[in-house]
Amino acid sequence: MTETVHVPLGTRAYDIRIGGGLLARAGAEIAPLLARPRVAVLSDENVAAAHMEGLRQGLAAEGIDMVALALPPGEGTKAWPQFSRAVEWLLDQKVERNDVVVALGGGVVGDLAGFAAAVLRRGVRFVQVPTSLLAQVDSSVGGKTGINAPQGKNLIGAFHQPSLVLADTDVLKSLPRRDFLAGYGEVVKYGLLGDAAFFDWLEVNGPALAAGDEAARIHAVRRSCEMKAEIVVRDETEQGDRALLNLGHTFCHALEAATGYSDRLLHGEGVAVGCALAFELSARLGLCAQEDPSRVRAHLTSMGMKCDLRDIPGDLPSAEALLELMGQDKKVVDGTLRFVLARGIGAAFVTSDVPGEAVLGVLRDGLAGR
Ligand code: GLY
Repeated sequence: MTETVHVPLGTRAYDIRIGGGLLARAGAEIAPLLARPRVAVLSDENVAAAHMEGLRQGLAAEGIDMVALALPPGEGTKAWPQFSRAVEWLLDQKVERNDVVVALGGGVVGDLAGFAAAVLRRGVRFVQVPTSLLAQVDSSVGGKTGINAPQGKNLIGAFHQPSLVLADTDVLKSLPRRDFLAGYGEVVKYGLLGDAAFFDWLEVNGPALAAGDEAARIHAVRRSCEMKAEIVVRDETEQGDRALLNLGHTFCHALEAATGYSDRLLHGEGVAVGCALAFELSARLGLCAQEDPSRVRAHLTSMGMKCDLRDIPGDLPSAEALLELMGQDKKVVDGTLRFVLARGIGAAFVTSDVPGEAVLGVLRDGLAGR
């Protein structure tokens, strides 16, 4: 069963293909894009060990050759040194303007490879083959590409849409449970931001999905991609509505900075905690029902996920210091923090009108509960 979500962006329109066995069928999926039967693949060493051979066979089945470069795994790769290495390697491989670069990996590889494709010979096409749940439902879709700067995450980059996304749900079977659940934080985000019925569905089907139910996984990836595609089509370069996708992210970015972008808090875990805090803040501001934050936390807890500040191991800075870290978020406009808050489950909106004292209250109580 392969499902398709179309992203209707005019001349930059593309399909997201979702289902099992897509690596094995990669050649047939990618062939229509190729001017000659050859692709250059960027990956990381861990993903390459698990999936590169499967991709090679899938491409070879249609007579497509590949050359591949596996970068070191981890967020540290998403910076100038490995980026220059990747771009120069693509040039050494004589990748031409009409060729296609393939990104095989999670968010780090997808963001770096997409940015490399954006600048190589002033732009070549690329195909995302996301291998983490987080990449399948978020980072591989929508065309945000880039690398980190010493000044902050994702500060160097370009909007460059992929020409195709192949989300093979079979590869999710080899993900460690913690990584899978971190990606699930982004899935929950979609229900919370814009589709209450999807959140209801996740409350019922989340445990089966985490246990490996294939149909449930395909449905969740599909619905997440549909929602992301709708928002990206409305606001490709984040002038407005696209910021809805950052539900939970203002808190998350501060918590990631406070934990040193380390193993203490994976990005998707920070998103889940951030969503719970955003709903708590919304309830305290009288925007949504008091029951809503409890319902968000109950679902995350039932999935065995982090949902409170007390679930983050180790010391955290004070509420004031966390608020200061939020002020360094790149979504700050004219020095004003923009938050995504909610009028209920599935009803998020973007606002700059959030009293700092209310944010401090949520953080202080969260820290006191530790
Ligand atoms: N991950 C948020 C966005 O793509 O806009």
